[in-house]
Amino acid sequence: MKIFPPVSFNFIFLLSIVVIVATGCQSAPKLTEPELAGKKLYQSRCQHCHEENDLALNPPPPSLHHIGEQGILPNGGAATDAAIIKVVNFGKNKMPGFNGRFTDEQMADLIAYLRTGLK
Ligand code: HEC
Repeated sequence: MKIFPPVSFNFIFLLSIVVIVATGCQSAPKLTEPELAGKKLYQSRCQHCHEENDLALNPPPPSLHHIGEQGILPNGGAATDAAIIKVVNFGKNKMPGFNGRFTDEQMADLIAYLRTGLK
């Protein structure tokens, strides 16, 4: 009995694609528990303004990606915990303050997520 070569070649080719795709999926960013909790807070409290600008603010709320990548705030200042907490609690211009809405733990989670560069 003879195996037709192209068939077995195709099978190996397909198999290697499956392996490549499967390994590729494992490289998705893994967030720690606090980062994950912070991501949920960001998605429910911040993203609608900072990414979707659902209130059509002008100028639009700035992207917060640089906090993680470069450690700087949109205004160019250092993105220290204290600076972030101050903006979140007291707001700035058209951004409302969340004073009292976040517990210390939630604030820490939120900052941990912002420092991932919004993965
Ligand atoms: C109602 C819309 C709105 C929501 C909700 C909102 N922001 Fe903002 N945010 C703004 C606007 C507008 C600015 C720009 C303020 C300015 O510099 O005039 C801003 C600026 C910022 C800045 C940069 C401040 C600076 O000095 O560079 C940070 C950090 C920030 N927001 C974090 C957050 C976080 C974290 C949340 C969620 C907990 C959030 N914002 C929710 C509108 C919003």
